Amino acid sequence: MRSLSAALALLVPVQAGLRFPCSTLTIQRLDPVVQPGSNPSAHVHHIVGGNAFNSSMTGDVGARASCTTCQMSEDFSNYWTAVLYFKHPTNGSYHRVPVIPVQPLLANSNGAQGGITVYYTQFDLSKDNLKQQSIKTFPPGFRMTVGSPTSSSKPHVGLRYQCLQGNNRGAEMADFPTKACSGGIFTTHHFPPCWDGKNLDSPDHQSHMYNTIKSDGFTNAPACPSTHPVRVPQVTYETVWDTTKFNSMWTSGTPNPFVWSFEGTSGYGTHADYMFGWKGDALERAMNKSECFYDGCGSITKQAMATANQCTVPDMVREETEGWLKVLPGMSA
Ligand SMILES: *[C@@H]1O[C@H](CO)[C@@H](O)[C@H](O)[C@H]1NC(C)=O
Ligand SMILES: *[C@@H]1O[C@H](CO)[C@@H](O)[C@H](O)[C@H]1NC(C)=O
Ligand SMILES: *[C@@H]1O[C@H](CO)[C@@H](O)[C@H](O)[C@H]1NC(C)=O
Repeated sequence: MRSLSAALALLVPVQAGLRFPCSTLTIQRLDPVVQPGSNPSAHVHHIVGGNAFNSSMTGDVGARASCTTCQMSEDFSNYWTAVLYFKHPTNGSYHRVPVIPVQPLLANSNGAQGGITVYYTQFDLSKDNLKQQSIKTFPPGFRMTVGSPTSSSKPHVGLRYQCLQGNNRGAEMADFPTKACSGGIFTTHHFPPCWDGKNLDSPDHQSHMYNTIKSDGFTNAPACPSTHPVRVPQVTYETVWDTTKFNSMWTSGTPNPFVWSFEGTSGYGTHADYMFGWKGDALERAMNKSECFYDGCGSITKQAMATANQCTVPDMVREETEGWLKVLPGMSA
């Protein structure tokens, strides 16, 4: 097990890719990719990004939004996952697990509130592939999901959990940690890198994409197949669920008390949704520049997180997701 500071030391010099924080935009039971038009959707989501977020989203999101919780101020995309809840082992009540920024683990939160750290990588964490293979960015209206709440087998590589002990990340696991994690539970969602080049979506929201990645972490994708020939940026989300105030209620040796908002007691149901919404050709400009990596991306417009944090959307579902709940929102008693 390698410490994070050792891992960071290996990352110099770095280029050709993006990594940035997005604060929490809203926590609501909406899902414009899987259940467009439904208010409410089946389960609660933790959503970051632009303020065009709504129960239904069509057309050019980047042209319609006017603010974003992401540091890259031309990124009006929305990024979301299910929400982690704590289920009290004796009385069965649920409490939402707060989200904290990932960035302190990496260096600096830049003032993000909760949220998700988003990556768009072209190759891996340390190489520039501009000269080796071209990357095509997503068109307006593009959307995809990864993972599935109904999955009963180990999810594909890149959908993982880490049990944080302090700032130490630990091994990547396919299921929930089996013991309390003093620094919280870290989740990673890597999306597939190959697109069919035609469809903005597909009936299962995944068939227009193809995963060729064979190992965990930020690794370069093997070549895309002829059915999905277009190499797109590898999109990744990192989220830290701050379990610390619940750890004392988890008796050592008893089952994991954390559940996903769809009543998912197995970690195998981890999933994430992506709605492309970069303004104009901003993402393509970023991906075309080898100077762009991590926070040092000269020509791409950034905003202060204090500004990003002011971006909001209305509470459209109007139901309680906070405090101790007898039943998870949308689930039956
Ligand atoms: C969300 O969509 C509904 C239904 O189309 C619409 O009435 C509402 O104005 C939209 N809200 C926002 C904040 O865009
Ligand atoms: C369950 O336990 C928590 C923590 O002690 C408490 O706040 C909550 O009200 C309890 N729920 C019920 C239904 O008693
Ligand atoms: C990005 O690079 C490709 C390949 O060189 C080029 O065709 C495209 O116009 C560039 N896009 C932008 C926005 O600069």
